[in-house]
Amino acid sequence: MKRAIYPGSFDPVTFGHLDIIKRASKIVDELVVGVLNNKSKTPLFNVQNRVKMLEKAVEDLDNVKVMAFEGLLVDFADEIDAHLIIRGVRAFSDFEYELQMAQTNSVLNNKVETVFLTTSLELSYLSSSTVREAAAHGADISSFVPEYVASQVYNKMNIKEKHNE
Ligand code: PNS
Repeated sequence: MKRAIYPGSFDPVTFGHLDIIKRASKIVDELVVGVLNNKSKTPLFNVQNRVKMLEKAVEDLDNVKVMAFEGLLVDFADEIDAHLIIRGVRAFSDFEYELQMAQTNSVLNNKVETVFLTTSLELSYLSSSTVREAAAHGADISSFVPEYVASQVYNKMNIKEKHNE
């Protein structure tokens, strides 16, 4: 069985992430979305909330599950017996960091391969950080994230939903 891991911060999950998840789930037997609990960072959402939002977003995908992890990605990959790491690449600017991470992971654990999927063209501008910034200024983020994610973002930021005004 080919089990892959799609790791990330997902703070919050966007339509760009969901596009990669849907496409990756079609080319592997099982896809584990790994949500990093990075204790040295202060995310907008804690790891439990990020996992919950993702679980709701992927509930129709039978071979996808969501798990939180801490520490090194390659150690988590070993733990869950995944030999494939999936990463989405949006633009050339992503590539340098992604290459460095893939090569570091491969030196740390040569049983793990990284596979890059290119983000769909119409979503290639999207990132969690721009979604957070737009929401913080009260913008309508319904083109960027699922509706329930948008509500949670506005709630968290104590912002009245733009499209309900
Ligand atoms: O969504 P992101 O923030 O681009 O995801 C980055 C992530 C979580 C994939 C990366 O930071 C990661 O794997 N962190 C865990 C620590 C690790 O293994 N780092 C790579 C080798 S030093």
